[in-house]
Amino acid sequence: MALKYLQLSVLVLAGLSITTVIWFSVLPLPVVIESANWMYFYEFEPVYRKNFTFTLRERVKCQDRNPFLVILVTSRPSDMKARQAIRSTWGSKQTWWGQEVVTLFLVGREIEAVDRITPLTVEDESHSFGDIIRQDFLDTYDNLTLKTIMAFQWVSEFCSNTKYIMKADSDVFVNTGNLVRFLLNFNSTESLFTGFPLIDNNSNREFFLKTYISYQEYPFRLYPPYCSGLGYVLSNKLALRIYETMSHIKPIKFEDAYVGFCLQKLRVKVHVPEDAELFFLYKINFNICKYRHLIAVHGLSSNEIIKFWQDLKKNNTFVCK
Ligand SMILES: *[C@@H]1O[C@H](CO)[C@@H](O)[C@H](O)[C@H]1NC(C)=O
Ligand SMILES: *[C@@H]1O[C@H](CO)[C@@H](O)[C@H](O)[C@H]1NC(C)=O
Ligand SMILES: *[C@@H]1O[C@H](CO)[C@@H](O)[C@H](O)[C@H]1NC(C)=O
Ligand SMILES: *[C@@H]1O[C@H](CO)[C@@H](O)[C@H](O)[C@H]1NC(C)=O
Ligand SMILES: *[C@@H]1O[C@H](CO)[C@@H](O)[C@H](O)[C@H]1NC(C)=O
Repeated sequence: MALKYLQLSVLVLAGLSITTVIWFSVLPLPVVIESANWMYFYEFEPVYRKNFTFTLRERVKCQDRNPFLVILVTSRPSDMKARQAIRSTWGSKQTWWGQEVVTLFLVGREIEAVDRITPLTVEDESHSFGDIIRQDFLDTYDNLTLKTIMAFQWVSEFCSNTKYIMKADSDVFVNTGNLVRFLLNFNSTESLFTGFPLIDNNSNREFFLKTYISYQEYPFRLYPPYCSGLGYVLSNKLALRIYETMSHIKPIKFEDAYVGFCLQKLRVKVHVPEDAELFFLYKINFNICKYRHLIAVHGLSSNEIIKFWQDLKKNNTFVCK
């Protein structure tokens, strides 16, 4: 009996080691390069220039408004609730400290079936508010980079007279007044790029994670320095140069890291805010003094954006030390 077990385990062990040998010879371990290098994704000819047509455009033109800051918010076509929350809160006021601020929304083409639940179409919404920019690509998570490229194209073609741009997500609370004041202190720096800095962020290879990326798409262990897509802020001059660079650099699926590659190519360093209480990657609970001080905080629901905005207004006499 015991002998039988011994024979069996020897057999199993042998089987296992053979499998291991085959595994490593057939599937070699990927060669992982430590630091990201833009040249890997670079083409001398502008082969990555996108050519989607704009199917919706903002009503008020930049030439008429001469904005100081344009905030471009990515949202899904069906997510009208998020856009309404922003329109009625931090996107509602058009002048801060005497500077013109324009808030617009970026969407792609809706995925049929799923998005049919909204009573109002994006066209209706655009008709009512005139603040939607749309191109003819499918609006999916993996196409977010196309949305960002659209944002940069739009700035280059239709709003090159603005001084600053912010790209933000729709689950972000922006203290617009603070952002304007922060930018006024920069004296029109020509290559400003700032936000929540991600320096030496790791690539994730666990396929179940949202941030998974294959070795095939991305051979490096680290990403170049970039700012989280929650909300990054840059000068217009830099935006135009980034848009030009985008035609030469192959898009990867994380739009913020992709912009990081363009910055690396342009040799522009991410500006890390000296004050660590301005940009928050994760939600922080409402605290009058924190919210009065910050520029952007990520991960809020539409209801929270509305509530926190009202709380901020209501308590405006509260003295923070
Ligand atoms: C972009 O598309 C338009 C029409 O769809 C076409 O006329 C033009 O040549 C295209 N441009 C590029 C660079 O592919
Ligand atoms: C991105 O959009 C293009 C154009 O609409 C579409 O062909 C493609 O399938 C989309 N990609 C993903 C990953 O959804
Ligand atoms: C902007 O200019 C003001 C006054 O000229 C100066 O005090 C301030 O330090 C400058 N800020 C930056 C970031 O250069
Ligand atoms: C980079 O790091 C942050 C947290 O530190 C994480 O949330 C984010 O998903 C990472 N980005 C990518 C592309 O993996
Ligand atoms: C701010 O206002 C809300 C109600 O609008 C109140 O619940 C909260 O306690 C106030 N916070 C402070 C710090 O005054």
